[in-house]
Amino acid sequence: MRKLRSAEWFDRNGKDGFIYRSWMKNQGIPAHEFKGKPVIGICNTWSELTPCNAHFRELAESVKHGIYEAGGFPVEFPVMSLGETLIKPTAMLYRNLVSMDVEESIRANPLDGVVLLCGCDKTTPALIMGACSVDLPTIVVSGGAMLTGKYQGRDIATSDVWRFSEAQRSGRMSEEEMNIAEACMSRSRGHCAVMGTASTMAVMAEALGLTLADNASIPAADSRRKVLAHLSGMRIVDMVKEDLKLSQVLTRNAFENAIITNAAIGGSTNFIIHLLAIAGRIGVELSIDDFNTSERGIPLLANLQPSGRYFMEDLYYAGGIPAVMKELDNYLHQDSITISGKPLAENYRNAECFNSDVIATVEKPFNPLAGITVLKGNICEHGAVIKPSAATPALMKHIGKAVVFENIDDYKLRVDDPELVIDETSVMVLKNVGPKGYPGMPEVGNMSIPKKLLDKGITDMVRVSDGRMSGTGFGTVVLHVSPEAAAGGTLAVIRDGDIISLDVAAGMLNVDLSANEISERKKNLQSFADQATRGYVYLFQQHVEQAHLGADLDFLKGGSGSEVLKDSH
Ligand code: FES
Repeated sequence: MRKLRSAEWFDRNGKDGFIYRSWMKNQGIPAHEFKGKPVIGICNTWSELTPCNAHFRELAESVKHGIYEAGGFPVEFPVMSLGETLIKPTAMLYRNLVSMDVEESIRANPLDGVVLLCGCDKTTPALIMGACSVDLPTIVVSGGAMLTGKYQGRDIATSDVWRFSEAQRSGRMSEEEMNIAEACMSRSRGHCAVMGTASTMAVMAEALGLTLADNASIPAADSRRKVLAHLSGMRIVDMVKEDLKLSQVLTRNAFENAIITNAAIGGSTNFIIHLLAIAGRIGVELSIDDFNTSERGIPLLANLQPSGRYFMEDLYYAGGIPAVMKELDNYLHQDSITISGKPLAENYRNAECFNSDVIATVEKPFNPLAGITVLKGNICEHGAVIKPSAATPALMKHIGKAVVFENIDDYKLRVDDPELVIDETSVMVLKNVGPKGYPGMPEVGNMSIPKKLLDKGITDMVRVSDGRMSGTGFGTVVLHVSPEAAAGGTLAVIRDGDIISLDVAAGMLNVDLSANEISERKKNLQSFADQATRGYVYLFQQHVEQAHLGADLDFLKGGSGSEVLKDSH
């Protein structure tokens, strides 16, 4: 075996070697365990403040068993964790910070390979981004989704939160019923049970080739999740011996596989931002236009909420992502190498679909409209996105008058005001919820419909913002408008009553204003964005890139490799 990276620490003579080894021994570990064996870091996002990842200490134990079995030495280390539900103001503000933590923790320590334990939405991209900037042999193990919720005899999961909320606002659901539904929905360990962002990220990792087959769909509570963790522990040891690094797996073709698979499963719009950021770290050319899958005729195969009916548990029982990929065989780069060291096709060659209602065929898809449409126009010169499968068909070509909210506080203050001049043909516009403006680009783009329209039975309207939407959300919602309002984008100058045209089929989003009028209005622009004056948030606002580039910090693009340049011992 070639010389291990960890030998730079543990094989040294004299004072340095003494220090490196001696303090490991205070944990009761004999030197033969970590000297001469692949040392594998288990990068753990366990936290009781990240409920979706709260079972990760146990999952890490399974990974360790596999590492020991294959002759490696596991070391578990914590990094900052991001719980989507509890963290304020938005977990996205900290994705890049976590990626820095991950990158520096891996590079600074005597690690030969890494297992990334990922679950709740941002933990997956943050860990992969950080690991890419170091580029050691790396495997992703996801935590798995929760079991499907059961409420009053029907299946529920996170997408129902939006429905329950609107039902409560319009008086169809009581506070007590809401309390009961809470417990019914979150009845097991794991992340959101729909094809929300966490599941989308797990599928992304599998389609990129960063996991063993079936990683994305085995439920968190299923014992086979632990088996997968164990096998991943075994595999990472061999990857170190083979020196199979992230950069060998994450090729341009691997990114295309992820984009194609994401379209077929109806993945979250957040996928775009995270995949662009990962590509930026590993040095693969990728642009927002590469995501325009609706142009490429890839149909929606997975009948999963929020675009469809079923849940992640059902996806696994129907054959999981391998069955989806087998159906996509002709679209995929089958020979892309995965962490197994073999072509991607090996992951799905023997897959079977056991329920064509959950995983449809290309010939008879669940919905011919799949993936994401990238919109361009004078509102969004660098792009905006919409998920057609989650939108109302009748609204996908629409012209309406803008009803403008300058920021999220303005929206909250006025949305339910009976005096608000708005009807179902209006286009709701929310500004200053982009990467710089909020800051951190929260998931508020699928703003709730005004109560007075809900009472009329209106369930969807065209909504436009520079923010994001939860992967569990739905509606005719245009997101990620770039440049954002706080960066001087045209969005900032839209006023109440301006005419907005959306044409999803044509990939167009425009405001009916001349270029002259837009530049005149920009001269007198008033800022409604919040500005931080210190700390990480200040750094973030100074350096965050726009959504169409992945919203990474500009100075984090690329990588610095695994070499430690200075050695103080
Ligand atoms: Fe963690 Fe949905 S809140 S995955």
